[in-house]
Amino acid sequence: MTQEQGEHFLTRLASTPLDLPFTPKLLQTLFMQTRDDGPFSLEDVARTIAHDQGLTTRILTMANSAYYGLQSQVTSIARAIAVLGLKQIRTIFLALAVRALACRGLPPDFDLAVYWRHQLLVAQTARDLARRHGVPDPEGLFTAGMLHDLGKLIIAQRAPQDWLAINRLILAEELPAAEAEDRHWGLDHGVVGALVLKAWNLPQELTEPINWHHDPDLSPDNAAAARCLCLADALVNWSEGGDGALASHWRNLAGRLSADPEGDLALALTAASDASLAAFIGILACAA
Ligand SMILES: [Fe+2]
Ligand SMILES: [Fe+2]
Repeated sequence: MTQEQGEHFLTRLASTPLDLPFTPKLLQTLFMQTRDDGPFSLEDVARTIAHDQGLTTRILTMANSAYYGLQSQVTSIARAIAVLGLKQIRTIFLALAVRALACRGLPPDFDLAVYWRHQLLVAQTARDLARRHGVPDPEGLFTAGMLHDLGKLIIAQRAPQDWLAINRLILAEELPAAEAEDRHWGLDHGVVGALVLKAWNLPQELTEPINWHHDPDLSPDNAAAARCLCLADALVNWSEGGDGALASHWRNLAGRLSADPEGDLALALTAASDASLAAFIGILACAA
């Protein structure tokens, strides 16, 4: 496989829209209305979401799941926004968008529950790292974490033969996915995921750290966020990695990115010990 074929895949992806469970306009409006500096009120956002009954129901189910541990049931979007905050609602909304894509079919070996668990652990760890080290916008990093490996899902769905070949390379040579992808066709899943998110008109401060989450120093305008995402990913992989060559890759990477990798690892381990993760993942399953 050559770099040319990787580029061909990107071109093909850019020209075939990925259908969303709602109009792209709704996603764009919602994102605009949930910006920090926007003039929009909680009611504006609630009204936008209320246009879509299915979406409303799913957001309420998610908000009432054990993951958020709310004291009492929320029964309206306005209340859910008031309790969880706009950015959490936005993250739920985006997770549901990805769920809709994923549920249109993936290769049988693609484990969606494992995928979501990893996204959620990286989201929580990135947010906690940002708080610990003073990186701006911890909630924005949670959103980026939830979406960071979207490209893996897209490659599996849109180029299943390449996905299989990449997986064989990962196993045979104990490579991290991004490196195997790079060898296979000269691009990694960060670039693929960011391309799709850009097509959904999501802002650069979200798409750029995702694009560069395996090469954070190349991020032109959001290197701090990209490094935070890269470190969160390394810590989560390290915490789950055992003793093999891959585990030492993640441990070394964490050591390069952090002055206190052991202290930061504790954040990933705390995230992983949260028993309510399963509730969140269960709602994102295709059968749910
Ligand atoms: Fe990744
Ligand atoms: Fe990852």
